Amino acid sequence: MTHKLAIFNMKGGVGKSTSAYNISAGLVQFHQKRVLLIDIDPQGHASAALGIPIWQLDKQLKDVLQRQANIREVVISTASGVDVVPSNILLAEEEIPISGFPGRELLLRKAIGAIADQYDYVLIDCPPNIGVFSVNALMAADAVLIPVDMSYLGLLGINGIERALSLVREQLDHPIDIAGVLATRFDARNNLSKEVLKSLQDHFGPKVFQTRIPETVKLREAPSFSQSIFEYEARGAAAKAYQDLIDEVVQTYE
Ligand SMILES: Nc1ncnc2c1ncn2[C@@H]1O[C@H](COP(=O)(O)OP(=O)(O)OP(=O)(O)O)[C@@H](O)[C@H]1O
Ligand SMILES: [Mg+2]
Repeated sequence: MTHKLAIFNMKGGVGKSTSAYNISAGLVQFHQKRVLLIDIDPQGHASAALGIPIWQLDKQLKDVLQRQANIREVVISTASGVDVVPSNILLAEEEIPISGFPGRELLLRKAIGAIADQYDYVLIDCPPNIGVFSVNALMAADAVLIPVDMSYLGLLGINGIERALSLVREQLDHPIDIAGVLATRFDARNNLSKEVLKSLQDHFGPKVFQTRIPETVKLREAPSFSQSIFEYEARGAAAKAYQDLIDEVVQTYE
């Protein structure tokens, strides 16, 4: 069975792309899973972090959503072992046209249908908003993984996330689940981190992953070397945290 997870939070800079590419790489490296990472953010950060030259794409996700390419034609196999459907800023230019397509919310789900069963996991990295691309990601996924940074505004954003999930469940009739809420950019020396984590646990209960991702410059540096954190600093705290998180994800599903 294929597990389809959207990495979703409308707030920017919470660690969606960092989590999407590192979880993908770790699922391959530590659990020998077949993983497809779909980058539905025109920033293309998850694609770029895995070494894809996003300014030299012949075809990309935009062509699939426009129904001008089959998804098989745009999949790129990366050195990490993760297959990627990449994007770049040209996707943003198609947002308004795509928003006018009939069945616009289901374009990604339909496109993935042709190849999903070749993978154990399909991860979808969402943009920081709730436009047509995020809705496509949510409609294509079985569950959301929600990274939340340890800030007051991070907490404030929970309301919006829940509204978006309700909209998908009630208006679009798709019973999307919460795979888990991930505390990111955690700084144990900082009381705010502890307070935000406590509020998340009060609100989401056992849906909050036990693992917290620490704030560390290594996670910021790794993409510039096209490396996952497991390659860039295998023995560091961030690699340990992402590996623990991946173990939790795998246990949730298997
Ligand atoms: N745990 C962390 N510690 C330190 N830096 C981090 C951490 N997680 C992410 N970052 C850095 O913070 C920035 C934002 O992270 P990232 O791109 O993963 O967030 P995002 O939620 O995908 O952002 P966007 O909403 O713009 O897509 C990046 O420069 C990234 O390297
Ligand atoms: Mg991102």
